[in-house]
Amino acid sequence: MTDWVVIWEWVTIAARWLHVITAMAWIGSSFYFIALDLGLRQTASLPPLAYGEEWQVHGGGFYHVNKYLVAPDAMPDHLTWFKWESYGTWLSGFVMLVLVYYLGAELFLIDPTVMDLAIWQAVAISMASLAFGWIVYDAICRVFVNANQTAVMLALFGVLVGMSWFYTQVFSGRAAMLHLGAFTASIMSGNVFFTIMPNQRIVVADLKAGRKPDAKYGQIAKQRSMHNNYLTLPVIFLMLSNHYPLVFATPWNWLIASLVFLMGVSIRHWFNQRHARKGNPHWTWALTVVLFLLIAWLSTVPMRTEPEPEARLAGPALVYAAAPGFAEVVGIVQGRCSMCHAAVPSWEGVHAAPKGVLLETEAQIAREAWRIYLQAGLSHAMPPGNRSFIEPGERAQIVDWFRAAGSGDPV
Ligand code: HEC
Repeated sequence: MTDWVVIWEWVTIAARWLHVITAMAWIGSSFYFIALDLGLRQTASLPPLAYGEEWQVHGGGFYHVNKYLVAPDAMPDHLTWFKWESYGTWLSGFVMLVLVYYLGAELFLIDPTVMDLAIWQAVAISMASLAFGWIVYDAICRVFVNANQTAVMLALFGVLVGMSWFYTQVFSGRAAMLHLGAFTASIMSGNVFFTIMPNQRIVVADLKAGRKPDAKYGQIAKQRSMHNNYLTLPVIFLMLSNHYPLVFATPWNWLIASLVFLMGVSIRHWFNQRHARKGNPHWTWALTVVLFLLIAWLSTVPMRTEPEPEARLAGPALVYAAAPGFAEVVGIVQGRCSMCHAAVPSWEGVHAAPKGVLLETEAQIAREAWRIYLQAGLSHAMPPGNRSFIEPGERAQIVDWFRAAGSGDPV
């Protein structure tokens, strides 16, 4: 039998793997170039038109790099471009967004207690918000390309705070955090795709035609890549936050996300100053620690006290609840899983439902059907170390029930 849940799981594993690889390649190359750029030296031996040079040693060889601010006087024969790192990250990230949040909208994207959206509405808001982000960002940068760049960054920070609040008003907590990450990352990829690359192509065309390229392109690219530099670390935090309910499952999640952007700036500032040989501004680490502690505190102070409303039984969950063997599975899950996977876990040392997975009520169990099947039926991932002594026969009952529901649809 074709087990769609297993195929599905492997498709998401492949997409996630690809996404992490492309993100590493992108961030790695962009951090490298930022450090290179800041470390350039102006020496007497520079070739004509060159702006600075750097000597580096790596992997058993020495590298001698020269930077030309706008362009060299002739077009080099071989030119290596850096763009697929960025495009690949965005594309694989979008695939993940579709796989996890659009196709799993009922579980992960929509929280009826936040806003009772239809799936198509939630997906439309998600896509429109990403496009909106780029349009607003690009407009701010274009208008203020010659203005005080610190003021521009503050304006962008205002946009990000507004968006983090907006997302928490329409989506589930974890989807809100992830969307803020996707919003920011789309701006970063947009910078490469819509601005830096087209401008670079104009410069290359000018060179080929023997024209002198306009210096403004270098200035624009610099503004955009500085933004990308400061936005990178917060994006990674927001993407990882999905695995930590303390970050997203609090009413202050939008404030936490906003503070994360400040931490991104404080950490990068230290490295930027260092690479530019302007000393070691250690105070930035003190600021980062204060921000981090503030975030940790915010995540716990206003713990949600009101009881979670009973989860809605809708869509595929109805099918699982109606499938033969459901009553027995509810008994098994309540006996073997709910000591940990509860709003108030009774298992020593477990303070909140692990990964936010609640398995107490029939509705919750029906909604998590495919995850129960995968974690405790097909694989022995749960219970961890079989702490609650689930029997092989009980795992078989979970598998039979899930398959009896006859649905290959994992969400
Ligand atoms: C002793 C406590 C405990 C028990 C009992 C337990 N779990 Fe878990 N569960 C955890 C922890 C801890 C995690 C988080 C694991 C991690 O961080 O990767 C988890 C994670 C999960 C996840 C999310 C996995 C993911 O990465 O998406 C599912 C689904 C799950 N458990 C289902 C079950 C089921 C079904 C049972 C009963 C058969 C069960 N658990 C029993 C502690 C428990």
